Amino acid sequence: MVTVALAVTSPAMVGRDEQLGGLRSALASATSGVPVTVVLGGEAGVGKTRLVTEFAAEAERDGTRVIVGQSVNLGGDGLAYAPITGALRELAAQLGTDALLAAAGPGRAALTSLLPDLPRRGDEPAGTSQGRVFEAVTGLLEQVAADRPLVLVLEDLHWADRATRQLLGFAVRALGSARVLVVGTYRSDELSRDHPLRLLLAELERVRTVHRIDVPRLTEHEVAEQLTALAGARPPADAVRRIHARSEGVPFFVEQLADLDDGTTLPESLRDLLLVRVEQLSEDSQRLVRLLAVGNDRVGHDLLAAVAAVDPDALDRTLREAVSANVLRVDGDGYAFRHALVREAVHDDLLPGEHARLHALYAATLERRLESGAGPRRAVTAEAAHHWFCAHEHEKSFAASLRAAAEARSLAAYDEAQRNFERALELWDQVPGAAEKAGFDHVELLARTASAANNAGEVDRARALVEAALTEARAAGDAVEPSRLARLIGFRALLLSELGLPGATDEMRRALELIPPDP
Ligand SMILES: Nc1ncnc2c1ncn2[C@@H]1O[C@H](COP(=O)(O)OP(=O)(O)O)[C@@H](O)[C@H]1O
Ligand SMILES: [Mg+2]
Repeated sequence: MVTVALAVTSPAMVGRDEQLGGLRSALASATSGVPVTVVLGGEAGVGKTRLVTEFAAEAERDGTRVIVGQSVNLGGDGLAYAPITGALRELAAQLGTDALLAAAGPGRAALTSLLPDLPRRGDEPAGTSQGRVFEAVTGLLEQVAADRPLVLVLEDLHWADRATRQLLGFAVRALGSARVLVVGTYRSDELSRDHPLRLLLAELERVRTVHRIDVPRLTEHEVAEQLTALAGARPPADAVRRIHARSEGVPFFVEQLADLDDGTTLPESLRDLLLVRVEQLSEDSQRLVRLLAVGNDRVGHDLLAAVAAVDPDALDRTLREAVSANVLRVDGDGYAFRHALVREAVHDDLLPGEHARLHALYAATLERRLESGAGPRRAVTAEAAHHWFCAHEHEKSFAASLRAAAEARSLAAYDEAQRNFERALELWDQVPGAAEKAGFDHVELLARTASAANNAGEVDRARALVEAALTEARAAGDAVEPSRLARLIGFRALLLSELGLPGATDEMRRALELIPPDP
């Protein structure tokens, strides 16, 4: 039987006066027309979301508009623009679609390619460029904030995709005198030396209007306060000391420990501690929790029902059990883990075969839904490609990656396009008859990947890919027509000049010489 805890989340936020002060003065500055960006760092579970949520509630009470976007953890780099589109959907819900489109003004077309569910005018072209998307989003924020100051929260930027990072870098400078405060949170313990967010943070640190706020662990005194708030009475001093030491002052672990500190023998590591609660669930409920750990951060009810393939009553029962045991929480019309740390612990605990099987289950279900036209196409295709890859289903992952790349490219989400092309490249040798399946040869895949990389700003990578394409094309001799070779050489010349390297003009001349004269 599951023991249901009374208060699992501290009713009151303890400490954080300094950090709240920093956020308040940043908002005051933004409100007076000096836009400010705050990057808020701290380890997982330390209370970044809680701090931002409390601050946002206070700001809203004072008449500020708040929108929040969540980065999606899809393994590797996230889904293009995910936190931005999430925040803009919230804005659309607050303002209504018409007002949103009116506020977008000239950025309307770029905005509708970012949010395909918005109504599109007949005369609007479908594709767009990254620059237009950036301008449309900042223009929209500026316009909306003219009316009421705006706080844009971008959560968990360590999972954000490159397009989001670039947009943030752009917005910090482009917002002019808009009354906008951007708050980006990230896990400081997640940033390895070569993490791409590190570069952006270093770049932002040089901008005067960017402030960094660190969210530290709680002191023993603060842990005592949190425990008091949780239990409704002050706990004995030795319990405080024990829980403070065990949790290392991370409030999320304080909550877990407060709830379990009742004689249960606790595991050594904090990670395993997170599994204790899961292991107390019924077998069916645990199965469902494992299934959810393989899905996205948040899995919609319909998708979960389709993947789980159990009868609706049993599904509801097992879900309710996991929610009341505080492993899962209801999130809109879907489910999420109460905290990403729990999801990660469950995920890491899966057996390898189980891991692959569950991913394959998601992929197959998503593709069935795609065929029946449910859900936003691009996100679903990219997710299916990701799941097939994790399931080691090479052929299916290959096909889905190419489709996802093409769809991302049509949206100017070049980094996502590049990522999917790169995955297809990685899989090429493992897919029998890859060229027939793709509809083009390996040289062409290299060239398309190079082009996406170049558009995504990865010029060095683009050049390496073009060199590889050229080497292969030359080795193939007559099998590659001169005009294709010429295009590749021309592309390389373009990259050389973008990189400021010599030889671009000569290369271009050679490319032109290869093109057969008009008949
Ligand atoms: N200062 C605080 N006082 C009380 N509870 C807190 C505090 N900070 C965080 N918590 C609680 O700890 C848990 C983890 O916090 P969260 O904000 O989700 O962490 P993060 O976003 O940094 O991973 C949440 O349940 C939250 O309510
Ligand atoms: Mg958080």
